Amino acid sequence: MIWTAALLMIVVSHADSDDYCYNEPHCDPYAWGDTFPSCHPLLEEHHSPINLDHQVIRNDSLESLYLEGFDAIQTGHWTLKNDGHSVVLQVGSGMSVSGGGLPGVYHTIQLHFHWGGPATNGSEHMVDRRRYPMEMHIVNMKSIHPNLTAALDDPTGLAVLGFFIDVVYADNMHFGHISQKLSSVAYKGQITKIKPFPLMSLLPKHSMSQYYRYYGSLTTPPCSQVVVWTLYEVPIYISWSQLAQFTSQIFSTEEDAEQVTPLQNNFRHIHPTFSRIVSASKDAILLTGTASRPLVLAVSAQLLQIILLGSFISGL
Ligand SMILES: *[C@@H]1O[C@H](CO)[C@@H](O)[C@H](O)[C@H]1NC(C)=O
Ligand SMILES: *[C@@H]1O[C@H](CO)[C@@H](O)[C@H](O)[C@H]1NC(C)=O
Ligand SMILES: *[C@@H]1O[C@H](CO)[C@@H](O)[C@H](O)[C@H]1NC(C)=O
Ligand SMILES: [Zn+2]
Repeated sequence: MIWTAALLMIVVSHADSDDYCYNEPHCDPYAWGDTFPSCHPLLEEHHSPINLDHQVIRNDSLESLYLEGFDAIQTGHWTLKNDGHSVVLQVGSGMSVSGGGLPGVYHTIQLHFHWGGPATNGSEHMVDRRRYPMEMHIVNMKSIHPNLTAALDDPTGLAVLGFFIDVVYADNMHFGHISQKLSSVAYKGQITKIKPFPLMSLLPKHSMSQYYRYYGSLTTPPCSQVVVWTLYEVPIYISWSQLAQFTSQIFSTEEDAEQVTPLQNNFRHIHPTFSRIVSASKDAILLTGTASRPLVLAVSAQLLQIILLGSFISGL
């Protein structure tokens, strides 16, 4: 009886807490389905992340999204939090995204990051099987829903804007708004205030019309298949030292924990696209057209050979 109660408590507390992890076998992404059934990758289910390859289909009606309030400095303050799985920036109200084929207006709620380790890349999505060092997700909820619970019941309840993050030698001054505050949220549960800044200053603002679109899921439990994904092809660039602040100075454990664990490799594994269409926006270039270009080159090289051969023969 006591034993049953104790067991029940363990089970309940396990299911209760959002306890999932990335790097231990009993709670890593392959085990999420045990606690969160909708994370189970059953056949033909539409999970994220995916690998973007040359199977993309261009859709000329996919133009730039309308990002309302992204250029402005919002009032109030934002909060940055280490939730043990990522670093999350809650951005208050005042921003929304629409257009670009999104089925409605979506209010911006938060953004967060996925990263690797000191020597490994950690983006969630891959491009041609290449992983970028990091990925940033701007999470937006369809404005007709009063709360997240309702949005998770709508097959297009969330719109997430994904940005790859690549590394260069120079610091990204705008990214400093976030990276300079990371030391205040090194441990799980820590929160700090951030002065609002124009979110657009973080983004590749000259290439916002180049993106890929597909329908998928949350990449963290409960893995709900309710996300309209927009993945931008031009990355955000930060410095090696800004990257290192994520990979080596953020912990998945609380400050007073007996054993301190760095938060690393907080990305979910790649899922098959199955029958899903991945669309390329009107202006996307990275993954489009490259299949035909080598062919054109090959043909023209052959033509050149024929011409050269022809002139060689006529020269004889
Ligand atoms: C192109 O995108 C528009 C807007 O999302 C959508 O309504 C349409 O079905 C898409 N066309 C194709 C061929 O996928
Ligand atoms: C990791 O990222 C670096 C920097 O962008 C890149 O040069 C490298 O090819 C990536 N490695 C993998 C395995 O994707
Ligand atoms: C969320 O919104 C739905 C639909 O209006 C409502 O029925 C539900 O009680 C709300 N849930 C919470 C937790 O507020
Ligand atoms: Zn994410």
